[in-house]
Amino acid sequence: MTTDKQTRVAVLLGSTRTGSLNRRIAEHLREHAPAGVTVDVVEGLDTVPFYNEEIDGDTAPASATALRASVAAADRVLAVTPEYNGTMPAVLNNAIDWLSRPYGQGAIVGKPFAAIGATPTPYGGKWSHEHARHSATIAGALVVEGIVVDESAVEGDPLANEAAVQRLLGALDALVAHEAVVAA
Ligand code: FNR
Repeated sequence: MTTDKQTRVAVLLGSTRTGSLNRRIAEHLREHAPAGVTVDVVEGLDTVPFYNEEIDGDTAPASATALRASVAAADRVLAVTPEYNGTMPAVLNNAIDWLSRPYGQGAIVGKPFAAIGATPTPYGGKWSHEHARHSATIAGALVVEGIVVDESAVEGDPLANEAAVQRLLGALDALVAHEAVVAA
């Protein structure tokens, strides 16, 4: 069977650090995505102003409009993020806020969504991922059940650990498979 449509996954990065482990994970997923899947890392989340209804609407900042366009064009959304102080980093939370508006019609509404990532703690950022899933649900995304990958980097780089790499790629696969279920 041949498929003529690429499935596009928009990745929202919770870290804007140049040397970010989570960016490297996102880039690994992009480079090793299965055939038929395009992974686009949405750049510039740190240039999007904090959400404020007074700057939204027809004159929304270009950075926010670009974020919305990237997600609107995607078939699915994957947050790849560390944890800051027991929750998701503000830059990711802010992106979800912009993607949730206009209420009920935001770019994230109806998009299959998952949140994964790694931190150098034993818990691998599990609260961040849980909170991102909760926030995305409230924002109107379709959070795919069962995609839970909170990689601990305590023992070293998860990308140097084949089992961890397979868990991360498996999360991408599960997100892709969800669309097949929806489309069936
Ligand atoms: C952290 N870090 C962290 N890690 C964690 O697992 N739970 C946490 O609550 C926090 N809190 C926290 C707050 C702040 C302000 C910073 C800067 C960091 C550590 C964090 O997970 C670690 O620096 C990661 O490597 C950051 O991810 P990137 O940038 O490597 O992708």
